[in-house]
Amino acid sequence: MFKTVQLGFLLLVSFLLLPGFTPKPKPYFPKKVNAVIQAKCYGCHSIDGKSQKAKDKLMWDDLAGMAKEQQLEKIQSIQKVLEKGSMPPEKFLEKMPEKKLTDKETKAMRKWADKTAKKLSK
Ligand code: HEC
Repeated sequence: MFKTVQLGFLLLVSFLLLPGFTPKPKPYFPKKVNAVIQAKCYGCHSIDGKSQKAKDKLMWDDLAGMAKEQQLEKIQSIQKVLEKGSMPPEKFLEKMPEKKLTDKETKAMRKWADKTAKKLSK
């Protein structure tokens, strides 16, 4: 009887440890960060975006459905564009300068991206 319980427990544990059953990490967006994304990134990097290139590179809404490694990859590319200040694209900012990230917004986004990358690489 006891052996059966032990065996059952062992089976349960190995089942949970199967990679396919590892739960996907849920990305967390603080209010401030979410507001920046909505105002300055989402227009292109979402289902309504007009540039297929932009959508191929990043879809905010798809992050939550990705495996941990993929999420980390996306966050790292976000870290890069924030570091370079290359998003939104320069060409677009010529027409809509108000979409440029302020220093404060860049700082908030970078802090969030750094924290998220750290959490995902654990
Ligand atoms: C006007 C549309 C537009 C806006 C607004 C915009 N992007 Fe982009 N983004 C693009 C396009 C187009 C590409 C693809 C560029 C390429 O492949 O050359 C891209 C690519 C990217 C990439 C992938 C970079 C790479 O080299 O792999 C990241 C990350 C990214 N954007 C983040 C952001 C963030 C963060 C914001 C908001 C601060 C933002 N984008 C706002 C159009 C936009």
